[in-house]
Amino acid sequence: MCGIIGYIGNKPAMPILIESLKKLEYRGYDSAGITVADDSELQTYKTAGRISNLESVLPEAITGTIGIGHTRWATHGVPSTDNSHPHLSGDVAVVHNGIIENYLQLREQLEADGYKFLSDTDTETIAHLLHSNLYGGVDGNEKTTDLLSALRRTIQQLEGSYAVATVCGSEPDVMVAVRKDSPLVVGLGDGEFYASSDVTAFLNHTKDVVFIDDMELVRITPQRIDYFNMDGNPIKKDITTIEWDIESAEKAGYEHFMLKEIHEQATSIQDTFSGKIFEFGGAVELKELNLTREDIRNIHRLEIVACGTSWNAGLLGKYLFERLAGIHTDVSTSSEFRYGDPVMKNDVLTIAITQSGETADTLAAIRSSKSYGCNSIAITNVVGSTITRETNNVIYTRSGPEIGVAATKTFTAQLIILYLLALHFGRANGHIRADNAKDLLVALKRIPGQIQKILNHQEHIRECAIQFAQSHDYFFIGRHLNYPIALESALKLKEISYIHAEGYAAGELKHGPLALIDVNTPVVAIATKGNTYDKILSNIKEVKARDAMVIAVADEDDTEIEKYVDIVLRVPPTHELLSPILSAVALQLLAYYTALERGCSIDKPRNLAKSVTVE
Ligand code: G6P
Repeated sequence: MCGIIGYIGNKPAMPILIESLKKLEYRGYDSAGITVADDSELQTYKTAGRISNLESVLPEAITGTIGIGHTRWATHGVPSTDNSHPHLSGDVAVVHNGIIENYLQLREQLEADGYKFLSDTDTETIAHLLHSNLYGGVDGNEKTTDLLSALRRTIQQLEGSYAVATVCGSEPDVMVAVRKDSPLVVGLGDGEFYASSDVTAFLNHTKDVVFIDDMELVRITPQRIDYFNMDGNPIKKDITTIEWDIESAEKAGYEHFMLKEIHEQATSIQDTFSGKIFEFGGAVELKELNLTREDIRNIHRLEIVACGTSWNAGLLGKYLFERLAGIHTDVSTSSEFRYGDPVMKNDVLTIAITQSGETADTLAAIRSSKSYGCNSIAITNVVGSTITRETNNVIYTRSGPEIGVAATKTFTAQLIILYLLALHFGRANGHIRADNAKDLLVALKRIPGQIQKILNHQEHIRECAIQFAQSHDYFFIGRHLNYPIALESALKLKEISYIHAEGYAAGELKHGPLALIDVNTPVVAIATKGNTYDKILSNIKEVKARDAMVIAVADEDDTEIEKYVDIVLRVPPTHELLSPILSAVALQLLAYYTALERGCSIDKPRNLAKSVTVE
């Protein structure tokens, strides 16, 4: 998974490409490179490591006003200068995000044709193939066709996923790009154009964008932009105006994006539910759903597919759909679902949860569910992302861009949408009464203020994090609704602090993990008030009896809990069903401050990436 950028306009391309690559670093950051076309001469600079490494090898100025750039997350071949993009073949330069599945076969054929490979990547095959289609072979000097047609021919030979941008010396004022199963968006500036994996790359230059769909090509010159289908026929595309501004994509004074994004939750979830809640009638309005009351009544089962943090949100969704709407719900990790033998009929509604909207496994899972004739809903944060074109209904979480690799504000926003959806279904099928729905909605509206309260008193959480920051193992336990939060909190801690952490359903501890508990194992028990409160108190006693240090997440007004635990992290009391949101925020802070104390790379944890567009 990688980030690509192309610029074509009237300004020097190099600084613009570098600035854009910095915005794209969250998509991959183990190597980077740019190619700038200066008349017919292509100048390429690339190196392993972060964008700052690339900057150190760049000359002071390059005059070309057309160029492409890339930031990489290795899939084929280790991070190295040779494996960095752009990849070159003669005077053709290519950047690519995705995976070419038949690259070995293509490579053999291209090597037999005399092409020399300098890298281990799948992408280099695209460069040579494109060169071959443009010049008729390795020794060709005269073009046999134009860059657009050559790229069109090239992708007919590719299997896999790609967003590709390319420039060539023989058409020095043209850039051509194409996509299949990897994101590509074009920015329309004033006398200039951008093509990228993500709008954040150019948002400070233009907010007018065009989302490129699968198997569409775009040809750009400084004067004009044209879109084509695979037959080479021109097509019309709609312009979308992005409402995010660049400030919301930058750190706004916080030390890390993650801390900024944790803080944003007090307002971002308000955006998530705004316009959807009519608490006095106990009603939720989800205008974006094309489902009649009849359709909802006919849902026999829900199948949630998701990965990582989104899967943890889905797990909480199961409890909500079953409690509030009485609909049997299964939750699958997308990577398992796609290769399983699910029993699916057209009375199953599939819900795909994915903050990026680009996770390859989740896209595959939703396509598989479609093959059974199932209706579908996507819950995503990214407008125009691939998942939005794969499902019948889309609900946006409206969290704004999330740059920290570890998901925080998109997670709580996904939870909010799941509460709303469950209530909506429950009201439509008569499972929940209006007054009960109203109680929940009134409490939901108070959540942003309660998150703010947790944020205002985070010092205690920070001290707790510092106290246990050198631990080797951590356990997070919870029951029922708090179980998914135990999983998510353990995931958060391991992602960014590299401490081994396990989330457990507290009642399962005695079936194995209790053997691991000793004085050096902090155990975080999510013990907010609810119908399993007494049960979690018993589990706390079990681990205390093994000398564990216990940190409880508990309601502010709980005076009982402190008798049994070592540290209490307080959250404001709320409706039992909503307390997981508040516990999640408190434990995001615990993970953050632990990682900070350990000096970890918080926004870009090792080996991880924000958007996993490969299997
Ligand atoms: C990556 C990210 C996680 C995310 C997961 C699923 O692993 O690092 O934060 O939860 O992908 O991503 P999605 O975009 O589908 O929610």
